[in-house]
Amino acid sequence: MFIRKAAQSDLDQIAQIESICFPQGQAAGREVFRDRLRTFPDHFMIMCDEYSNAAAFINGFTTDRRDLTDEMYRSAYMHDENGAWQMVFGLCTLPEYRQRGFAQRLLKEFIRQAGLQGRKGVVLTCKQQLITYYEKFGFVNEGISSGSVIGGVQWYQMRLLLG
Ligand SMILES: CC(C)(COP(=O)(O)OP(=O)(O)OC[C@H]1O[C@@H](n2cnc3c(N)ncnc32)[C@H](O)[C@@H]1OP(=O)(O)O)[C@@H](O)C(=O)NCCC(=O)NCCS
Repeated sequence: MFIRKAAQSDLDQIAQIESICFPQGQAAGREVFRDRLRTFPDHFMIMCDEYSNAAAFINGFTTDRRDLTDEMYRSAYMHDENGAWQMVFGLCTLPEYRQRGFAQRLLKEFIRQAGLQGRKGVVLTCKQQLITYYEKFGFVNEGISSGSVIGGVQWYQMRLLLG
């Protein structure tokens, strides 16, 4: 099992994993991933199994904006390579690969890279039931997100400060 950067050739697999992991309305579409892979491939990582099949992925752009908003999910062009904050737009593991630390390893690597790049921190939004999961990595819950209401769900914004 290994982590590698995603490429445009992973597009179909990524879109499929997303559609399995998130319900309709919350799942990002194929065009969104195409744009993200084109615009910020250095901030898109895949976890592969021992046969090199994609099992999980993480992605998000960098920006000087402090808060994660729904507009960011669909607007890859807002990416600023010199941005202070590393956003996390999606972290998902195919059901058959869960509870094996895949998401944990991806997130740790994402955080490590953000640290190496001198970012101020990492920001994500999540559902209530995952708050304690992210707290284990040092993320602090900032409460219900006002900028994200995607899928009609209540999202909580969490921030990890680096350095
Ligand atoms: C949330 C999600 C990404 C977690 O993926 P995962 O790869 O199973 O995550 P991990 O394996 O790192 O951790 C999951 C649990 O497995 C446990 N675990 C990790 N490694 C383990 C191992 N080797 N053996 C047994 N359990 C393990 C973790 O402690 C964690 O338990 P916890 O929930 O009590 O903290 C996955 O369930 C998913 O894709 N859900 C749908 C999409 C989603 O909601 N994404 C998050 C958006 S905010």
